[in-house]
Amino acid sequence: MTLNWIELSRDALLHNITAIKGKAKGRKILAVVKSNAYGHGLVEVSSILKDHVHGFIVADLEEGLELREVLSNVKIILSLPPLNKKEIIEAAHNNFSIFAGNLQYITQLSKISLPKPIYVHLEINTGMNRSGLSPQDLSKAINIIYQSPHLKLEGIFSHYATLPDDMDFAKRQAESFQKVLSEVKLPENILVHMENSLGILKLPLEITNSIRPGIALYGLVSIDSDTHLDPVLSLRSQVIDVISIRKGEGVSYDHLFKANDDMWVATIPSGYGNGYMWNLKGKAEVLLHGKRLPVLGKICMNHIMFDVTKLVGEVKIGDTVTLIGKDGKEEITVSELAESSNTINYEIVTKLSPKLKRVIV
Ligand SMILES: Cc1ncc(COP(=O)(O)O)c(C=O)c1O
Repeated sequence: MTLNWIELSRDALLHNITAIKGKAKGRKILAVVKSNAYGHGLVEVSSILKDHVHGFIVADLEEGLELREVLSNVKIILSLPPLNKKEIIEAAHNNFSIFAGNLQYITQLSKISLPKPIYVHLEINTGMNRSGLSPQDLSKAINIIYQSPHLKLEGIFSHYATLPDDMDFAKRQAESFQKVLSEVKLPENILVHMENSLGILKLPLEITNSIRPGIALYGLVSIDSDTHLDPVLSLRSQVIDVISIRKGEGVSYDHLFKANDDMWVATIPSGYGNGYMWNLKGKAEVLLHGKRLPVLGKICMNHIMFDVTKLVGEVKIGDTVTLIGKDGKEEITVSELAESSNTINYEIVTKLSPKLKRVIV
């Protein structure tokens, strides 16, 4: 039985990829589906997108293998490169491409004899300062790749650090990337990429021939833009209990909530155990029968209680409750939950448990 589940809207995902394609202006799309497709479901999302993108960027070897099992022919790029020999061989064996941005790592890689070539995207650090080659090390890295029979240069990329808040810095990053590109001789069909979602929407470049949208695919960009995107994910649960309590009684751990009047309380079997943020206590609302209803007291591991006094007599065990998404005219957005729990959209969705059943609607 599925007590809690995630619904993925195929139409919304297809709408978003079409909108991104419009912005791409012919550039290739490398869809960022790392961290279980931002919590949405790696296999489900990639299966819907497979005919619309040039390739997929996953987090690590484990995610690559999960995706390869269902999509045998697509390009899969590991953003976290495998480190030990066994894993590097497994990556080559499965036709994975890898991100690499460290000279020591690229040297190690070149010394391993591989059953098949491994395709490398070299990262240039233009200011994100988390990984990537310095511009001076780029030609050394390229030479190592050219001299190795089993390493193939497939891409070269960089990553914006400060969008949308510091556009000037982002522009300087793009200029550094352009300068680096102009100083090396690259194969004609190499993939050149820099823009993430905000880059695509706010600072598109002429020097790239591919783009790396992540959050935009899922319709969760939190800035104003002329590109309309639809949220893909809804999180649903169902009522497992309804009780009446008396004025003055408390609800949930430590009785953070105390009833001002006699009231009705419903319970759903969801909580921080499946990724709903604990610190939404006292702030969140859920939807039932098209109405917004306040969550009461602390969020438990597998239980959330909420006020159904205004629906008294109408609530049944098994009724569907919406924690994220639409019910009738009402909608609870990921941004609303992110704001209430003092975090970002990315964290709200990536925290959702991989164990939740994903249903494509
Ligand atoms: C290297 C790289 N490219 C692209 C993306 C996608 O970013 P966004 O989700 O903001 O589009 C990420 C996300 O973390 C990333 O690390």
